[in-house]
Amino acid sequence: METRHIALLGSTGSIGRNSLEVISLHHDRFQLISLAAGENINLVTEQIKRFDPPMVSVKHKKDADHLKKLFPRKTILFGNQGLEELVSDKRVDTVIASINGTSALTATMIAIENNHRICLANKETLVAAGELINQALESTEAEIIPIDSEQSAIFQSIGSNKKEYIKRIILTASGGPFFGKRKDEFSQITVKQALAHPTWLMGTKITLDSATLMNKALEIIEAYHLFKLRSDQIETVIHPQSIVHSLVEFIDSSFIAQLSWPDMKIPILYSLTYPERNHFPNRNLDLGELKKLEFYPVDIEKFSSIKMAYLVLEKGKNAGAVFNAANEVAADFFLKGKITFDEIFEVVENIMGGENFFPIRTIEDLNQTIEETKQKTIKYIQRRLSK
Ligand SMILES: NC(=O)c1ccc[n+]([C@@H]2O[C@H](COP(=O)([O-])OP(=O)(O)OC[C@H]3O[C@@H](n4cnc5c(N)ncnc54)[C@H](OP(=O)(O)O)[C@@H]3O)[C@@H](O)[C@H]2O)c1
Repeated sequence: METRHIALLGSTGSIGRNSLEVISLHHDRFQLISLAAGENINLVTEQIKRFDPPMVSVKHKKDADHLKKLFPRKTILFGNQGLEELVSDKRVDTVIASINGTSALTATMIAIENNHRICLANKETLVAAGELINQALESTEAEIIPIDSEQSAIFQSIGSNKKEYIKRIILTASGGPFFGKRKDEFSQITVKQALAHPTWLMGTKITLDSATLMNKALEIIEAYHLFKLRSDQIETVIHPQSIVHSLVEFIDSSFIAQLSWPDMKIPILYSLTYPERNHFPNRNLDLGELKKLEFYPVDIEKFSSIKMAYLVLEKGKNAGAVFNAANEVAADFFLKGKITFDEIFEVVENIMGGENFFPIRTIEDLNQTIEETKQKTIKYIQRRLSK
């Protein structure tokens, strides 16, 4: 097995910290060339001391200046340009893309141009820029191996089967903490309740997105671009135990699924070692002890996020970028206690409803869509709040 030379983007986040654990498990196979973080300078300082990467990038110049004093022999960069330099470094062949949101879009495009393996955790990249990314992939030797557990499960279940053998894919959703709640109770949901995920321990935004099922909506769009299927081949099902990470049904009516305890280190490791596998010590998954694996249909009247995902696929063009940006702003306002849980859906629906979608040809088009949608959503929410 060849050694992977890794640039880890988002090292201080939930996926980033799990990735560092995976890297330290197999340090004979994985060499950390660089890491990028945002604003958590205490943690990134500890990570530099422990993992000793030659290059580091952080969000702000003042933090980069501080780190330069602490680590004078290292290359310390900052901002988007810092991310772009990390993925362009000649030593790197693999990028773990785990910065949340769309800040690392350009860096991801550059990683593709550099023919890297991209271990993709960030779902917003494909949601907002799926067509641009796929076009770029066609003209390079770069590859995307998904980290998102549902996409990893689909990727593994498809295996070497031809695309025409796939009847449909079924993305599982834990259902989040409000699977059993009535819609008329949504307005009473607190931030603390929304951030109490029943099975997965993740970053704040994705935990909230799991509660609104916006996360599943983003995954429907992500899967559409990753596996290049028709939208009517992508389905979702609630599976509260989060053991079956997703399933594929083939044209002969066989299903193949991937199962494990919910632990992001498993798909992270697979994305790094694919097509090979490597050891991951874990507690035994005893199906006899587990006794039952349950599945329930998704209530799309309650969780309009799922309906919106199919609207995005129907509209195409920049609809994914609009949807994602509107959701980011609405989620942020909810987390700050300024709008209620049910208003997240209302805000995103409203922004989607008022859009004339246009094609995205460049990253600049995309960034413009993202910026304009964010501004429009902020104004929309402020208008509502002032009434
Ligand atoms: N967590 C999961 O289990 C999971 C599963 C599947 C997919 N994903 C996807 O993976 C991505 C990361 O999720 P997460 O849960 O790990 O998020 P998270 O815990 O919020 O971490 C986000 C990371 O991005 C960094 N960051 C943010 N803006 C940055 C910028 N401008 N420049 C450099 N670094 C920046 C943060 O740095 P600071 O903290 O230092 O500011 C942090 O390291 C998301 O797109 C999510 O949808 C996550």
